[in-house]
Amino acid sequence: MAQVKLSAIGKRFGAVKVINGIDLQIDDGEFVVFVGPSGCGKSTLLRMIAGLEDISEGDLFIGDRLCNDVAPRDRGVAMVFQSYALYPHMTVYENVGFSLKMAKVPAAERDAKIREAAKLLKMEELLERKPAQLSGGQRQRVAIGRAIVREPKVFLFDEPLSNLDAALRVDMRMGIAQLHQDVKATMIYVTHDQVEAMTLADKIVVLDQGKVMQVGAPLELYHHPQNLFVAGFIGSPKMNLLTVDAKGAGAGKITVSSGDLAATTFDINETITSESVVMGIRPQALKLVPTDQAQLPATVRIVEHLGNETVINAELASGGNILAIVPGDAPLKYGEKIGLSFETADAHLFHTSGPRIETVSKAKAA
Ligand SMILES: Nc1ncnc2c1ncn2[C@@H]1O[C@H](COP(=O)(O)OP(=O)(O)OP(=O)(O)O)[C@@H](O)[C@H]1O
Ligand SMILES: [Mg+2]
Repeated sequence: MAQVKLSAIGKRFGAVKVINGIDLQIDDGEFVVFVGPSGCGKSTLLRMIAGLEDISEGDLFIGDRLCNDVAPRDRGVAMVFQSYALYPHMTVYENVGFSLKMAKVPAAERDAKIREAAKLLKMEELLERKPAQLSGGQRQRVAIGRAIVREPKVFLFDEPLSNLDAALRVDMRMGIAQLHQDVKATMIYVTHDQVEAMTLADKIVVLDQGKVMQVGAPLELYHHPQNLFVAGFIGSPKMNLLTVDAKGAGAGKITVSSGDLAATTFDINETITSESVVMGIRPQALKLVPTDQAQLPATVRIVEHLGNETVINAELASGGNILAIVPGDAPLKYGEKIGLSFETADAHLFHTSGPRIETVSKAKAA
């Protein structure tokens, strides 16, 4: 087992800097998920931890050991990729045991480790098959088995489930959560899938353009995004973000309004005189109300009836869009005028430059 510590880590490909001064502490046994838009540096960062990419600047510690220049095989890490690249001519048994054979582990010990991994991954009956005789999910389990037998202190996963269909992803997601319970190793996991990130992670690291935007427990990021980027990134569908006018309304208060939004007053922890701010409100936090009580009057555009909930795409007076998700079956039609409203405690405020404006009700709730 090991903690992983990144200190001012940077990576340059030629003149291009793709990882920029990352500080991160990952505790022993923790499950950490990296998320961020395509190209933000998730794989690069993972590969730097694995030793597959050089570290241009900063220090990487695994356990207490400075690992910048330690060979990949000596770092105590094992990586599982999206493409599992099994040896086609070898059986599952041979694929899983290959690295042990290379390391000249005695046959009996090797056999015990392969069977233990197979048991953990519920693939004991597959050991004599070749990769071509396996489904995608089964192949991915073999790839994870290959990592397990090496008994790494740190598992690194780069989008391991993204080639699988939706049902299998759910199964494998549970499998990985179970594996983490069983082996209790430190795990670092890259994904594009919000549900995977939210359900697997002890801690999510949100990256953008090679920088950390926020680190925190999944619900902390969801309920308390520290900036506009995280607000827009965490949560599916996305949080509605409206640019509105803000006016100071006495000590610790601001009133926000716009052509779309009826004046709404917030208690805040800073002094704002007069500026534009961004108000964020999640689709699930909007309620349907009679039009004469609307904070946000809107016109229905597209309605999606999912049975348990209704997804409403509506147009605001300004022409902007707003998305609301209400429980049950809301009988709405194209072109219908509706009223939307929300609790101020459910709204998030941000400076247009990005940072969160702390509202008092939120601060109390946290
Ligand atoms: N070998 C390389 N040479 C030059 N640039 C590279 C190299 N590898 C990656 N990059 C660049 O580094 C940046 C980060 O790439 P990386 O693969 O880490 O992104 P990612 O977050 O994993 O994206 P995705 O979600 O699409 O997998 C990208 O701009 C990419 O083009
Ligand atoms: Mg990647």
